[in-house]
Amino acid sequence: MIRINDNYLNLQDSYLFSTIAKKVAAYTKENPDKKVIKLGIGDVTRPLAKEVILSMHKAVDEMGEKDTFRGYGPEQGYDFLREKIVEYDFKSRGVDILPEEIFVSDGAKSDSGNIGDILSVDNKVAITDPVYPVYLDTNVMAGRSGKYNKDTNKYENIVYIPTTAENNFVPELPKEKVDIIYLCLPNNPTGTTLKKDELKKWVDYAKENKSIILFDAAYEKFIQNKDVPHSIYEIDGAKEVAIEFRSFSKTAGFTGVRCAYTVVPNELFGYDKDGNKVQLNKLWNRRHSTKTNGVSYIVQRAAESIYSEEGQKQIMENIRYYMENAKIIKEGLKEAGYTVFGGENSPYVWLKVPDGLTSWEFFDKLLNEVNVVGTPGSGFGPSGEGYFRLTAFGTKENTIEAIDRIKKWSK
Ligand code: MLT
Repeated sequence: MIRINDNYLNLQDSYLFSTIAKKVAAYTKENPDKKVIKLGIGDVTRPLAKEVILSMHKAVDEMGEKDTFRGYGPEQGYDFLREKIVEYDFKSRGVDILPEEIFVSDGAKSDSGNIGDILSVDNKVAITDPVYPVYLDTNVMAGRSGKYNKDTNKYENIVYIPTTAENNFVPELPKEKVDIIYLCLPNNPTGTTLKKDELKKWVDYAKENKSIILFDAAYEKFIQNKDVPHSIYEIDGAKEVAIEFRSFSKTAGFTGVRCAYTVVPNELFGYDKDGNKVQLNKLWNRRHSTKTNGVSYIVQRAAESIYSEEGQKQIMENIRYYMENAKIIKEGLKEAGYTVFGGENSPYVWLKVPDGLTSWEFFDKLLNEVNVVGTPGSGFGPSGEGYFRLTAFGTKENTIEAIDRIKKWSK
């Protein structure tokens, strides 16, 4: 008899962004004449940088020649990419990371979901609330949560750390002892960032409680404020307590290309059932080399190209383009009378929905009445109820049009 993983039955019907896509598809089918503007999922619209395309073409040509053809590469990533990452993403910020601590992969979504493979199901998990739904869903799948409570929109045995306008979106340290802490900074969806002294509190907490911080830095390139750290490793001692996820998706427009990496420092240890220290880098390396053959040579060459002078210039132009969209959204919504957050160090604008409406009701109204798609705050967690997210990753034209429609509609 085939027994299933019962934990899957404990999940909500479908993944947040799949539910939205289904609703939008149904609306579009019924209203084929309507131009629906999608500012829901954070998917990029700018084409790849010229440098990226040139590198990919070159790599494709290499693959067509017998002397330069490549088959399986190192599962952890080619040295040419790992060394560039070490130098440009870390050394440039005063952080020493070794190439062997970098694991190249197809996405931060997969890595942040898969990392649980090397951690016991008995660990107590804390997530900031609202947050990227993958952290919660993958822990439910693994069996680290208890039952879902429909009334509270919460799972038992998961510690939710509310970040709302009431606490200025700054998460407080958990009151109880937790083992795994997910931090996404700049935050998806609220756009919150933490300064070094605020982040240090989390590193200190993790050290004191022998916990691990799973730090998602997918949006670090959008940081504008000089005093905001781009990596958790900018905090002394963080290498002993944190794994960091990075992605080329939002940074370099790779949502359709797929490339990311995870940093597992050698100094980071977990404990086995007898309390012995075990190096997590070794475990992740074992998992990675067993379950994946890595990322294609062509894609890794493409990722490498963003670290050249020209590559950096070109990707930063795209980031500025999106941040300009964020400003258009934020300013426009303010003019329309909304209370708005985020959008300053992140490509997401987080707004308060008008009184009396739930996040999903606002979603439906916006879709049906102005044909604009956003993401309901409650999809990111119970504390997201009453909020709504718009992404700055659309085209400038569509962003302006969407905000104009919302402004007229809100009058
Ligand atoms: C989002 O919209 O939150 C992200 O694009 C989803 C993702 O990165 O998987």
